[in-house]
Amino acid sequence: MKIGIIGAGNIGGALTRLFTKAGHQVAVANSRGPHTLADLAAETGATAVEAADAAQGADLVIVTIPQKHIPALPAGILDGAAEGATFVDTGNYYPRERDGAIDEIEAGALESEWVQRQLGKPVVKAFNNIGAASLFENGKPAGSPGRIALPISGDDAAAKAVVAGVIEEIGFDVVDVGPLSESWRQQPGTPGYGADFGAERLRVALGEAGRERTEAFRAQ
Ligand SMILES: NC(=O)c1ccc[n+]([C@@H]2O[C@H](COP(=O)([O-])OP(=O)(O)OC[C@H]3O[C@@H](n4cnc5c(N)ncnc54)[C@H](OP(=O)(O)O)[C@@H]3O)[C@@H](O)[C@H]2O)c1
Repeated sequence: MKIGIIGAGNIGGALTRLFTKAGHQVAVANSRGPHTLADLAAETGATAVEAADAAQGADLVIVTIPQKHIPALPAGILDGAAEGATFVDTGNYYPRERDGAIDEIEAGALESEWVQRQLGKPVVKAFNNIGAASLFENGKPAGSPGRIALPISGDDAAAKAVVAGVIEEIGFDVVDVGPLSESWRQQPGTPGYGADFGAERLRVALGEAGRERTEAFRAQ
């Protein structure tokens, strides 16, 4: 599959390594330009591109940049993706540590629904619930004891199937949380966040999650 990744940091770098290893054709971009990604490209065989070109012809596009930078992405940056492409938001809102207050989210907008509006494309929320090091290191073959499960949410069953497929490929089980409107269950501060649970425990944790953002994840 042709995969575009916008953001080449902790998560974008890990996904570039994992997806190329799984045999996918990856184009990866950051904000500073492809010349700054030469080492990652040489290591993985991914193509380093300008952010504006990362989605070109891609079947799957992963947007993995800090939440506060989402509005700075140029309008239409995802428009060149392949017909029927799938878009993923890996984002988490860290108002105190990183993002500052994003007014609409503070007023109650759900993080990935806000991202979806900014991008103008339907997104699947995925890869937000696991630390980058664990994502990179802890994938296991299907059926292995202790295999970690990753939650996904989104409104398009076909798009979720694409995302579930690549998650399985890189070594994780998948738990479908439901529509994007339920994605608060996998957000920061919830019981399953960063917990590296297997599918059974993750389902329990998702069921126990509260809709209200915990204090640590509110701007004030
Ligand atoms: N770190 C984790 O363990 C983890 C786990 C799950 C989810 N997440 C979430 O995933 C998202 C990415 O996190 P991260 O830790 O991977 O971030 P990060 O390490 O800070 O990397 C951010 C990347 O985004 C790029 N970027 C920023 N603005 C951009 C723009 N306008 N156009 C193109 N690229 C841009 C940066 O490029 P430059 O370096 O060139 O500026 C950098 O490559 C965040 O929402 C985070 O909360 C993180």
